[in-house]
Amino acid sequence: MVYPSQHTADNAPNKIDFEAIKKLTINEASAVNQLILDELSSDVVLINQMGHYIVGSGGKRLRPMLLLLTAKALGYQGKKHLILAAVIEFIHTATLLHDDVVDESDLRRGKESANAVWGNAASVLVGDYLYSSAFEMMVRTDNMRVMEILSKTTTAIAEGEVLQLLNCNNPATSEEKYLAVIARKTAILFSAATRLGAVLGKASKDTEDNLARYGQHLGIAFQLIDDALDYTSSEEELGKNLGDDLAEGKPTLPLIYAIQNSSKKEADIIIDAIKKGNRDAFNDVFAIVNSTNAIEYTEQRAEQEAQMAIDTIKSIPDSEYKEALISLAKFSVQRSY
Ligand code: IPE
Ligand code: IPE
Ligand code: MG
Ligand code: MG
Repeated sequence: MVYPSQHTADNAPNKIDFEAIKKLTINEASAVNQLILDELSSDVVLINQMGHYIVGSGGKRLRPMLLLLTAKALGYQGKKHLILAAVIEFIHTATLLHDDVVDESDLRRGKESANAVWGNAASVLVGDYLYSSAFEMMVRTDNMRVMEILSKTTTAIAEGEVLQLLNCNNPATSEEKYLAVIARKTAILFSAATRLGAVLGKASKDTEDNLARYGQHLGIAFQLIDDALDYTSSEEELGKNLGDDLAEGKPTLPLIYAIQNSSKKEADIIIDAIKKGNRDAFNDVFAIVNSTNAIEYTEQRAEQEAQMAIDTIKSIPDSEYKEALISLAKFSVQRSY
């Protein structure tokens, strides 16, 4: 079943060109990639294999890009942004390895997930390796503020994942509680990326806080759209299985809104599916999500967050990097993968 998406068509004039934005930091991104590859060269063969497998399967590299663009928007001239961009991508990759185990997902970045290939134990352990490597790299920046930001961030991500676990199979989860989860599990890493860029750029406290807020709003928008795409995208485009959230009994915003805006009979179908946590009722749930406009509602909430992100960076000096940050906030909502 294909949902008639509200996203801008590929050829629409205001469609954000993600590849063009990527080009702005292409040289830095290739240095970051080299750092990542160097760091994966452990003499433990499985770490090498799994690390290269997941890193080599791509990913949008959005979080490192945000860090690089923020540092450059604030005039940073040094080299520490490269190492911190690699650190952020390592932390992200570690969370994905763990997340696919918890979510029992077997498709990631268009390929079998690492847990599907090597099993859960290997994914958890290599995820831990990536976390530890990230901290080892971070220490090389010799900057206590950087270490404070990153260690608080990983703690908050773990809290978010545990909070989410507590909400699973609970159809009474409110929009507020859902937002509290995504703020920690996803948005905090975006916020750390942009805050670190600001710290490197020696921004004032106000500017640093604004950049962090930009990242936080963008990250919320990004996860809202991810949760919509779990119902509306296609496996080819997304590179992940659809319906993984329902299969886990995750009360994401499309379901929360649909429960509140449907008949008792329809709401009960969704409530039952969340409690059971399987894909059996996917088609029925999808039809109710559609008929209540729950996807439009989720997209509108994402658009609001993206706009708030853009508004918080109004006062930083104009540059092509600032324009790129504005465009990435819009991309987070328009994206289809
Ligand atoms: C996936 O993040 C996890 C979420 C927070 C939704 P991305 O969509 O950025 O994953 P990759 O790195 O591009 O594969
Ligand atoms: C994001 O949530 C997970 C992390 C922050 C690690 P999801 O579970 O929705 O992410 P995907 O859809 O598996 O990428
Ligand atoms: Mg997942
Ligand atoms: Mg998801």
